[in-house]
Amino acid sequence: MLDVKVIRQNFPIYEHNKDLVYLDTGASSLKPKAVIDQVDHYYSNLGVNVHRGVYGLSYEATDLYEEARTTVAKFINANFDEVVFTRGTTASLNMVAQSYLSVLKEGDEIITSELEHHSSMLPWLNVSKKTNAKLNYVKLNDEGRITVEAFKDVLTTNTKVVALTYVSNVMGYITPIEEIIKLAHEVGAVVIVDAAQAAPHMPINVKSLDCDYLAFSGHKILGPTGIGVLYGKKHLLDQMEPSEYGGDMVDFVVKDNAKWKDTPYKFEAGTPIISGAIGLSSAIKYLMSIGFEAIEAHTKELHRYTLEKLKDIKGIEVYNSKSDTGIITFNIIGVHPHDAASIFDKNKVCIRAGHHCAQLITKWLGQIATLRATLYIYNNYEDCDRFIDSVKETIDFFNQF
Ligand SMILES: Cc1ncc(COP(=O)(O)O)c(C=O)c1O
Repeated sequence: MLDVKVIRQNFPIYEHNKDLVYLDTGASSLKPKAVIDQVDHYYSNLGVNVHRGVYGLSYEATDLYEEARTTVAKFINANFDEVVFTRGTTASLNMVAQSYLSVLKEGDEIITSELEHHSSMLPWLNVSKKTNAKLNYVKLNDEGRITVEAFKDVLTTNTKVVALTYVSNVMGYITPIEEIIKLAHEVGAVVIVDAAQAAPHMPINVKSLDCDYLAFSGHKILGPTGIGVLYGKKHLLDQMEPSEYGGDMVDFVVKDNAKWKDTPYKFEAGTPIISGAIGLSSAIKYLMSIGFEAIEAHTKELHRYTLEKLKDIKGIEVYNSKSDTGIITFNIIGVHPHDAASIFDKNKVCIRAGHHCAQLITKWLGQIATLRATLYIYNNYEDCDRFIDSVKETIDFFNQF
């Protein structure tokens, strides 16, 4: 197990919120001091633009910004010029989908699933409506997982795009994405991987996955909000049109023409998210100093511990007891999740209530909303106990009525 006492010393939020039980990392992670300090360093000591200034401060800011790209590239085993900084997973996935508006046509097929976060399926619903390409959904198995077998059932020679999540934000399942990518490539389809929930939990290697595009957000891996990553294979990024035009993305401009810079810069029009990228770099370094093996062992143990206790409680329904990551999605029978969440909130236990921007899987579960607790590196057994106490208190409270 990780030494949570030591880890919490790195997270100033615990100093300011003594009783905090934070179980909403699925929505956004807490931020360590290393990240806050690095963002502060940029604003306190540099605070200037990148790529433009012909003076020391700007060179230094540019170095930090581009070093961040190197850190991200190493983190996912990509090449430097395959890493585009964006606002987040949503922006990255939309950017890719937009670029297929001019590529797809009637007769083409797109595969997605009911397990997707809205950011992974809505951009393709839009593309499908505008191009008349057919949107197919992988049938989930009884547990709600995407399986290779079910994927084969919807894969056809007309499949041009596969957009799937690597780890579900509701069920915590890991998709067998590597095999799916191999099969998709056999019919010439590109695969876009939503790695927003995978990046905090497991090593990502875009080369061994052989995915065509992959997206994740900084704020879910201990980094700042407002920064994300789009990975794309170099030849695909070369073909992809920018979705925004403006400063710094162009080599030369004449009245009736312009030549874009090479990747990744042609996708980063305007002043980029400098502090975000620099902060993200620190977050990745911090995460790597802990290591994914230790992160996985820690969250799995807390998950086991919590589930064991939940098992003994009558009046709840857990929808993903076989979750592969530290996500527990459940309901207290007869109690609306938002009503339940207010009792957790009173006890300073932060969990999520709602459809988690994934209405299709929530409907698949036969629910209108669920409660979700995510376990991560700064959680300990005491957090799990206080979570369990809140579950019991909620049941007792609503039983009165
Ligand atoms: C699986 C998944 N995909 C995409 C997103 C969207 O991420 P962002 O809001 O950072 O763009 C989320 C966020 O909850 C997510 O969990």
